[in-house]
Amino acid sequence: MKTNQRFIYIALVLFYVLLSISCSKRQADEIVPQTPVTPGVGTSTVTYTNFTEALIQTKCAGCHTAGRSAAAIWTFNGIASITSNEARIRRVVLETRSMPIGNSLTAAELTSLREWFDNNMPN
Ligand code: HEC
Repeated sequence: MKTNQRFIYIALVLFYVLLSISCSKRQADEIVPQTPVTPGVGTSTVTYTNFTEALIQTKCAGCHTAGRSAAAIWTFNGIASITSNEARIRRVVLETRSMPIGNSLTAAELTSLREWFDNNMPN
């Protein structure tokens, strides 16, 4: 192999390795309300069924369900487990941002969750 051929070969291998490293940390898909929300029309479309349940299931239940690591601190088992802990959940998710650990919620998810709470947590 000529020197410049070898250089191109090595550069391609490095490029491929970097590409596969940078793509391997795939984030969970963003949770969005399933009923299309018309921009600017208010907040009443965000419900437990079309949004909050999936969000908590995906982003919280890995630690906060019976048998998981953080179940003793707060256990998610349906809408009542959220409504009866509104103040706590609001504080750690929307104010201190200490939950979920790793801070993986997108701005859109935080907005929808805040709207759901502000709307008195419709089912
Ligand atoms: C990787 C595991 C993990 C995930 C994911 C996670 N938590 Fe937690 N959570 C913990 C642990 C551990 C604690 C206790 C330590 C602490 O407070 O930092 C905790 C504490 C809490 C508390 C109690 C805080 C208090 O001071 O009263 C609430 C409420 C809570 N989490 C809600 C949530 C919500 C809502 C989500 C999802 C948006 C979530 N957690 C995601 C592990 C997790």
